[in-house]
Amino acid sequence: MRKIRLAQVALNAALLLGTVGHHALAEPAKSAPSPIYGVTIPDGYRKWQMIAPAEEAAPLDELRVVLGNPAAIKAIEKSTLPYPDGTILVKLAYKRKQSPEFATATIPGEPTTVQVMVKDSRRYASTGGWGFGRFINGQPVDAAQHQTCFACHAAKVKDRDYVFTRFAP
Ligand code: HEC
Repeated sequence: MRKIRLAQVALNAALLLGTVGHHALAEPAKSAPSPIYGVTIPDGYRKWQMIAPAEEAAPLDELRVVLGNPAAIKAIEKSTLPYPDGTILVKLAYKRKQSPEFATATIPGEPTTVQVMVKDSRRYASTGGWGFGRFINGQPVDAAQHQTCFACHAAKVKDRDYVFTRFAP
C-alpha cells in the first residue's frame, strides 16, 4: 500500500515537472540569427505600432502587417530619411482565410513568415545600412534566400531608404 502511495507521489511530481517544462517550451524561443546578417526576431515586437497592412496576390495569397519599433515610428512621424540606426521593421505574413463567421470577411490564417529589417549603418554598410532576416516557424531561412533581400529592395525603393511600406493613414 505504502509503495503504491509513493509511486503515485513520484508520478504526480513527474507530471507536474512535465507541465512546467511544457510551459517553458511554449515560450517563444529565441530565434537563431539569420545567415549573412545575423539578424534575430526582436523581443517584444508584437506590441509595436502598426505602420501599414498589405495584401499579396496569388500565388502567395497573404495578408501582411508591418510593425515598427519606437525609433521607426518616430522617424516616420518626423518624415526623416534615412531611418536612424536602431530602427527595426517587422513584417508578419499570414495565409488569407475566409472568416468562418462571415463569408465576405478575410482573416489571417496560418502564419507564413516573419521578416525583419534592422538599421545599423556601419555593420550593414554594404546593404544600404540594413540587415535582413526571414523566419519560418521562428527559424531563419537559408543564405540563398537572404541573398535576394537587398537586391529587390534596392532595385525598387532605394530613394526611400530601401523601405517599401508607407505609413497608413
Ligand atoms: C522580389 C522583391 C522582394 C524581395 C526579394 C524581398 N522583399 Fe521585402 N518587401 C518587398 C515588397 C514589395 C515589400 C512591401 C510589400 C509587403 O509588405 O509585402 C517588402 C517589405 C518588406 C519589409 C517591410 C518594410 C518595407 O520595406 O516595406 C521587410 C521587413 C522585408 N520586406 C524584409 C525582407 C527580407 C528579410 C527579405 C529577404 C529574405 C526580403 N524582404 C526580400 C519586396 C521584396
